[in-house]
Amino acid sequence: MPSAAGTLALNISEVPPTVTPSSSESTTTGPSTPPGPQIFAIANQKGGVGKTTTAINLATALAAVGEKVLLIDLDPQGNASTGLGVPRNERAPGAYEFILGLSPMAQCIRTSQIPGLSVMPASVSLAGAEIELIDMERREHRLFDALAADESAARAQWTTILIDCPPSLGLVTLNAFVAVDAVLVPLQAEFLALEGIGALVNTVERIKKRLNPKLHIAGVVLTMVDRRNVLSQQVEADARQHFGELVFGTTIPRNVRIAEAPSHGLPVLIYDNACAGSQAYILLASEFIRRRRNAAAAQQVPS
Ligand SMILES: Nc1ncnc2c1ncn2[C@@H]1O[C@H](COP(=O)(O)OP(=O)(O)O)[C@@H](O)[C@H]1O
Ligand SMILES: [Mg+2]
Repeated sequence: MPSAAGTLALNISEVPPTVTPSSSESTTTGPSTPPGPQIFAIANQKGGVGKTTTAINLATALAAVGEKVLLIDLDPQGNASTGLGVPRNERAPGAYEFILGLSPMAQCIRTSQIPGLSVMPASVSLAGAEIELIDMERREHRLFDALAADESAARAQWTTILIDCPPSLGLVTLNAFVAVDAVLVPLQAEFLALEGIGALVNTVERIKKRLNPKLHIAGVVLTMVDRRNVLSQQVEADARQHFGELVFGTTIPRNVRIAEAPSHGLPVLIYDNACAGSQAYILLASEFIRRRRNAAAAQQVPS
């Protein structure tokens, strides 16, 4: 078995992480509490568009350049947990217990084989959360509250948290949208890719207005692109016309090694570092870091 990130010749070292890892002092809260992790939801209410694959491989690439990354698996199917090798009988307590406030963060996370990358796994109980949340107080804020409650203890150790969302715009996804800084949208370069995207954009706008003013779409990632296929080209052109600069320049090709990797419990970046899919995710991570740095710089420009 490959020795995890040790074998990763990620060619993105020239792009330093945007977020400085919290110093050891950061475990104490005070007036100068350092900014916490940047949190991104990876969302699209369609299934099978590459959310989980993007979450796992972006998380792996960020960890490989020295970030401390937590991947929260919010999909009851638990594909991100499987893809990172968390056995089914070791998934609780996990995201379900965390979101419902039953267990603190420290008990809900597992280390992965990749140094710097931890995962909060999803068990099947999470499927019930959608219904259980309905009658709860602050039902859209449960994840936000759980993350905030752990500020000094566990949350501050991460530089980036990625949340792999379920394929719906239900309460669990809304909880992610209330808790994050921004949303990353994988879009499968196939027929009807843009169908339903209006509902996603509207939901983001609605949450931004009512519950989370900083929420925005950080980018759209085209996945399973086949440049020889006219339809795939057309979807890419439509997406770029519709979303403009929001669409990442990097696209992820359809690649069999990407599809094989999860059954080995490994990110494709570890399973086969040299394949076209891995190379694309390395480029995507470096573009992600660059965009994030530019966004941070733009925010600091005095008006
Ligand atoms: N670029 C790709 N090339 C080939 N297969 C892919 C690619 N991206 C994802 N897949 C496969 O497609 C399926 C759906 O991807 P996944 O990331 O699980 O989507 P989602 O999380 O949106 O449901 C999985 O079997 C995955 O391994
Ligand atoms: Mg998924």
